[in-house]
Amino acid sequence: MRLPLIIALACAMAAPQAMARAIPDPNQKHAPGNEEPQKPISQAGYSTPVNYQLQCAGCHLGDGTGSRANDTPKMKGFVGNFLKVEGGREFLVRVPGMSQSALNNAQLADLLNWLLRKDGMAGASMPERYQPYTEEEVARVRKVSLLNLPDVRAGLIEQMRAQGIEIDDGMDAAY
Ligand code: HEC
Repeated sequence: MRLPLIIALACAMAAPQAMARAIPDPNQKHAPGNEEPQKPISQAGYSTPVNYQLQCAGCHLGDGTGSRANDTPKMKGFVGNFLKVEGGREFLVRVPGMSQSALNNAQLADLLNWLLRKDGMAGASMPERYQPYTEEEVARVRKVSLLNLPDVRAGLIEQMRAQGIEIDDGMDAAY
């Protein structure tokens, strides 16, 4: 009767040893051809769509559909509407996903200009005229924290509604 107990005890005592063996060998070398340490994304020189995949798509999904269940708003066919209301242009730079991303200012400007295209994610939501973001503008605007995001967003959505813009992201004014 005692045997199973002893076996269980032996297993419990052996477990930490087994786990210790799983720790990587401190003398381990890089695989051949992979010796260089990984570059931070701000210096890696990836293309803008790759930067989007690495920094944004995890939450916003590849095509910008977002995820209602995770409170992640839809950008696809919608994000351009922010350019039509006062304060929206700055808001797009200051949302945490943008301003606190690991991308540098030039990469962020490129990313915004890539999202905000009539033939891109923003699609038909784009205004007639579009002034592309520059590295300098992003640097200036990014520094200013966005306090009280839900209220700021609600104000922008309200301005959109006043212009008759259809809000169909399923997330209402605030969340
Ligand atoms: C960890 C998840 C996450 C990541 C990563 C992320 N976002 Fe977001 N994003 C959100 C959430 C959640 C919101 C809603 C506002 C908030 O809570 O920040 C949001 C809001 C936004 C908005 C405002 C849209 C609206 O309708 O209010 C934009 C634009 C945006 N993100 C772009 C980006 C871009 C571009 C990147 C990549 C550089 C990015 N986000 C990375 C989760 C994320």
